[in-house]
Amino acid sequence: MAYSREDIDRVRERTDLVELAAEVTRVKRSGRSVMAVCPFHSEKTPSLSIDPARGLFHCFGCGKSGDVFGWVQETQGLGFSDALELLARRAGVTLTVDPEAAKHRDRRERLVDAVERTVSFYNERLRTADDAGHARSYLRSRGYGADVVGQFHLGYAPDGWEVLVKHLRDAGISDEAITGAGLGSRSSRGGIVDRFRNRLMFPIYDVRGDAVGFGARLLDGDGPKYLNSPETPIYHKSRLLYGLNWAKSQIVRSDESVVVEGYTDVIAFHLAEMPVAVATCGTALGEDHLDLLRRFSKRVVLAFDADEAGAGAAERGFERSVPGDLDLRVAVLPEGRDPADLVAEGDVDELKASIDSSMPLLQFRIDRELKRFDLTEPEARGRAIRAAAALISLHPDSVVRREYAVLVSRRTGVDVASVESALSGSARGPESPQLADDQPLTGAQRTEREVLRLLLANDVGIRSYDVSADLFVDPLHRAAFELIMPVVASIEPGMAPDLGSAIGSDDRAEAVLLRTIAMVQRPPADADDVMNMLKQETVKRRIRVLEADLDLIDVNTDPQGYSDRFEQLKALQNERRELRSRE
Ligand code: UTP
Ligand code: MN
Repeated sequence: MAYSREDIDRVRERTDLVELAAEVTRVKRSGRSVMAVCPFHSEKTPSLSIDPARGLFHCFGCGKSGDVFGWVQETQGLGFSDALELLARRAGVTLTVDPEAAKHRDRRERLVDAVERTVSFYNERLRTADDAGHARSYLRSRGYGADVVGQFHLGYAPDGWEVLVKHLRDAGISDEAITGAGLGSRSSRGGIVDRFRNRLMFPIYDVRGDAVGFGARLLDGDGPKYLNSPETPIYHKSRLLYGLNWAKSQIVRSDESVVVEGYTDVIAFHLAEMPVAVATCGTALGEDHLDLLRRFSKRVVLAFDADEAGAGAAERGFERSVPGDLDLRVAVLPEGRDPADLVAEGDVDELKASIDSSMPLLQFRIDRELKRFDLTEPEARGRAIRAAAALISLHPDSVVRREYAVLVSRRTGVDVASVESALSGSARGPESPQLADDQPLTGAQRTEREVLRLLLANDVGIRSYDVSADLFVDPLHRAAFELIMPVVASIEPGMAPDLGSAIGSDDRAEAVLLRTIAMVQRPPADADDVMNMLKQETVKRRIRVLEADLDLIDVNTDPQGYSDRFEQLKALQNERRELRSRE
C-alpha cells in the first residue's frame, strides 16, 4: 500500500518508543539513557538501548536494531503497513491511502464490525438471557467463572433461526456482510438464517486482535461437537491461531509458545497463569501456522495427545522445520488427559512440568521409533538402529546428527560406531532405509518420491507430463522438486542432467533426500503408472475433503450447497474409477 512519506513521519514523531517497549519488556531509565531487556533474545540484564528522541533501538546483545515501525513489526509479527496503521491509530493520525486499497479495507472493516457486534450480542445473551441457563450451568461445570467469560468474550448463540440475523439487521448490518462474515447462510427460500444455534461460542481473533470468526461447541442435541466459521475474506483457518492475540506478548517475553488442541486448552493455560498457548481452529497444524508462530518465538512446544503429536507431525512433513530457525518440541502429557483436564483437576504443577520437560520433535520421534522394536533381540536392534538412523539423517547439522547417534547408542546398547555407520548408510547407501518398503511412508509419499526419481533421470516418459509443484503434497518433496526442476527443464528429455551443482553438496533436507533417491538401485517405475497413481492420490484427497465438508453441511438449511457438493463427490468418484481402470 502506498502511504505518503509525510504520514509516515508524522506517525513516527508522535510515537513514544519507550512507552511501546514498556508494554512488552522491562525498561530502565538512568540519566539520559534508556535500556531495556531485549525481547529478541533471552537475557536477564538489559542490553537493548533506546534512543527516545529519534525513536530508534539497538541491542548490544543480539545486534537487532530498527525504528518504531520495526519494533512493532518484530514484537507483534506484523508487516509494515499493519504496523503503520496500528501506530497511526494510537497516535490519532489519519492516513491517506489510494482508493483501491481503501475499498479492500472497507470491506474488511465491515466484516470485522459484523463479527464484533455478534461477539457482544452472544456474550450479552450468555450472561443474562433466560434461554441461556443451560449454557451457564455448563460453564459452571467446567469451572469457568465470570472472569473467563469476560476475558475470552464467550457467548451463547440462541436456539432460533433468525435471532442473530434480526439483531444485526436492526443494527444496520447489511445481508452481504452477514453472509460474507459467515454468520448466516442463505436458506432455500432465499432468506438468511443463523449459522450457529444453541451453541457455546468462542470468538476467534486474528493476530491483531480483530474478531474474525467463531468456534462453537454443541450444548445438547445433534450435530458436530464443534462447528467453526466457514472460510471468509477475514477467516482463513490455515493462517489463524486461537489465542495468539492474547498470548503474543508473553510468547515474545518467554521465547516459547505452546500449541494445544483446542479452545478449552488455551483457556486452561491462561487459568494456569501460562498465557502462551494457542490452538488451531478446526484444522491440523500446518506450515503457515508455524510461520506465524516463528515470528514470536523460536521455540514451539506441541502439547497434544502424545501419539497424535508425533504421528501427525511426522505425516505432515515437519522434517523441514526441525532444522534451522525453529526449535520444534513435544511435551508429553500424562496419558489421556488434555491441558483442560489437568487444570480442572488442579494439577497445574503437572502441566507445568510436562511443558518444562519438552523434548525436541526429532528426539521424540526417535524414541517412538525405538519403542516399536524389541531391543533385547539382536535382529530387532539392527532394524531399530536403521529406522532411527533414517530419522536422524533428516537433520542437516552433522554435529547434531552425531549427538543423536550417541543418544541412540545409549538407548539401545549398540556402540556409537555402528549407529554412525547406519547413519552414513541412510544418507548415501544404495539400500537407504529411508526408502525401504518397510518404512512408514504413505502411498502418496512413495509415489511422489518415484516422480522425483524419474525427474532426476530426466525420463522421457515423465517429461511428457506437465508436472508442477502443486502435485506434491509433502512439503519436503515439493522443495526437492523446486530444487531440480529448473535444471531438468533446461535440457532435452532423456539427456543426462548435471545436478552436481544443484544437489551435490547441499546440506538442506531436500538435497539430502534427492541424493538418497538418486542412489536407489531398483529399476524405475513406468511414468504413466506413476502419474496415474499420483492423480489417484489427488482425487482421493479431494474426496476426503468433500466428505468432511458434507458432514458439516445441514441439508435443511443449505440444500443447494449440499447437492452441489454431492454432485462434485459423484464426479470425483467416477474419475477415480476411471483412473483405476487404466492401471
Ligand atoms: P474435547 O473433545 O476435549 O472438547 O476437545 P471439550 O469441549 O473439552 O469436550 P469434553 O467435555 O472433554 O467432552 C478439546 C478441544 O479440541 C477442539 C476444541 O477446540 C476443544 O476445545 N475440538 C474438539 C474441535 O475443534 N473439534 C472437535 O470436534 C473436537
Ligand atoms: Mn475436553
